[in-house]
Amino acid sequence: MSSKNKSLKYFLQKARKEKRAIGQFNFSTITQFNGIFGAIREHKVPVIFGTSESEAAFLGIEGIADFMKNFKKSYPHIFLHLDHGKNINVIKKAIQSGYDSIHFDGSGLKFEENIKQARKIVESAHKKGILVEGEIKSIKGGSEVHNKNFKIDESFYEDIEKAKEFVKTTGIDSLAINIGNVHGTYRNKIRLNIDLLKKINKELNVFLVLHGGSGTDDSDIKKAVKNGIVKVNINTELREVWKKSMLRHLKKSTFKPYEILPFVIKDIQDKVEEKIKLFNNQ
Ligand code: 13P
Repeated sequence: MSSKNKSLKYFLQKARKEKRAIGQFNFSTITQFNGIFGAIREHKVPVIFGTSESEAAFLGIEGIADFMKNFKKSYPHIFLHLDHGKNINVIKKAIQSGYDSIHFDGSGLKFEENIKQARKIVESAHKKGILVEGEIKSIKGGSEVHNKNFKIDESFYEDIEKAKEFVKTTGIDSLAINIGNVHGTYRNKIRLNIDLLKKINKELNVFLVLHGGSGTDDSDIKKAVKNGIVKVNINTELREVWKKSMLRHLKKSTFKPYEILPFVIKDIQDKVEEKIKLFNNQ
């Protein structure tokens, strides 16, 4: 693939032009990494590896950034992203360690404070060519299996005027938006407000990101990608596959991890491939 030295920004612009989305797949174990990586080898598409603050702490920020840098020598179209960074020290460390992009989640702050902090982070990240994603209204839920229904409340939806001001004054590269999406899976399929997305896409000149990709109606994801979403985040569905597959294959009589884990890696890879096809209109 002739993607040597091409930046994440290049691939996001390309995705926007081609009406595709790049998958952000979160991980916290090397087994998950291998599953995601297997899918990239098959599909040769750019992919973002996401780590939340907890996932990054478990992996070790510097260690995982070095590990990824090594892989990037042979696979330059893979990127490392800090997901929902709230702690300034963690964000600084990710910037110093060589993450490719940072999600500054200031959604818990007052709007003005969110702008102020986002602007500072953009300034230091951009000096190193690192992209910054912002968030205004907190995206609901958590990346787990919720054994209940989710009901969207219109007050969760993005406020377009505020979003315009936020994008203009902070200089962020991408925005995590609220169009009915929620983190985690629920008993009901999550439906997206595509009309709202169309309006947001018309008004904002910023990469639009869909969080809470797990458990969302597939046809809504396809429509969202056609209407401006250029990155979709997936975590819960991969965690679910990992856990179910581990439990199933640990029942084998062998004690050798390298005889058990390839099955788990394959199951994760299959799920990632399914998502890559969805995000690329296949
Ligand atoms: P899911 O857990 O719903 O896939 O969402 C992941 C996410 O948005 C990470 O920020």
